[in-house]
Amino acid sequence: MAADRTDHYFDDDPAAPSDPVTIDVTLPDTAFVLETDRGVFSRGRLDGGTSMLLRHDLPVPATGDLLDLGCGAGPIALTMARRAPAATVWAIDVNERARSLCTRNAERNGIANVLVRHPDEVPGDVRFATIWSNPPIRIGKAALRDLLTAWLTRLTPDGTAALVVQKHLGADSLQRWLGDQCWATDRVASKSGYRLLTVRPRSEL
Ligand SMILES: C[S@@+](CC[C@H](N)C(=O)[O-])C[C@H]1O[C@@H](n2cnc3c(N)ncnc32)[C@H](O)[C@@H]1O
Repeated sequence: MAADRTDHYFDDDPAAPSDPVTIDVTLPDTAFVLETDRGVFSRGRLDGGTSMLLRHDLPVPATGDLLDLGCGAGPIALTMARRAPAATVWAIDVNERARSLCTRNAERNGIANVLVRHPDEVPGDVRFATIWSNPPIRIGKAALRDLLTAWLTRLTPDGTAALVVQKHLGADSLQRWLGDQCWATDRVASKSGYRLLTVRPRSEL
């Protein structure tokens, strides 16, 4: 590999040669097959944090627009779509290979209510009844804060976001920062080094 080559999972259009691995994802209420690949987060397994989010008893609005922020191969988007078949699930990612995988994974599991898009392709007037995310912590603190601010601002007034973050990657300081920004944030679960945070729309500053 060339010394300057970057193929981190958060790169747009990763350069790593494709080498797909298909996994079975089994949750208490649903199951699906997920194709994963190099250059996309968590190849060959369901991430522990994502698993925690999906296994927690979080409500999913039955209708409206829902968002999976940073969809990767799509485990969160597909689960939301299965749990809320009358809702529209937006699955967004900057990584082109992730978007392709997510599109294929929705199709192969017969899930029709997922819209896979680059973040710039989501119309500006769409508001989300819920946002679920295993966010891209590794893009750096400033970029992550900008990303969360941009999308949390688009929650409906009674919407809620759920974020799963590793403790050692700064979950507690992220929770404090969100609170300081007037996003009411609660830690609803803590397990195996992960924190599950719920976030409500920002009160007036
Ligand atoms: C921790 S991974 C989670 C992937 C998937 N949701 C899962 O649980 O397996 C974070 C994802 O965020 C994506 N990402 C990075 N920067 C982003 C941005 N600015 N907007 C949207 N997604 C981004 C990455 O490409 C990556 O797929």
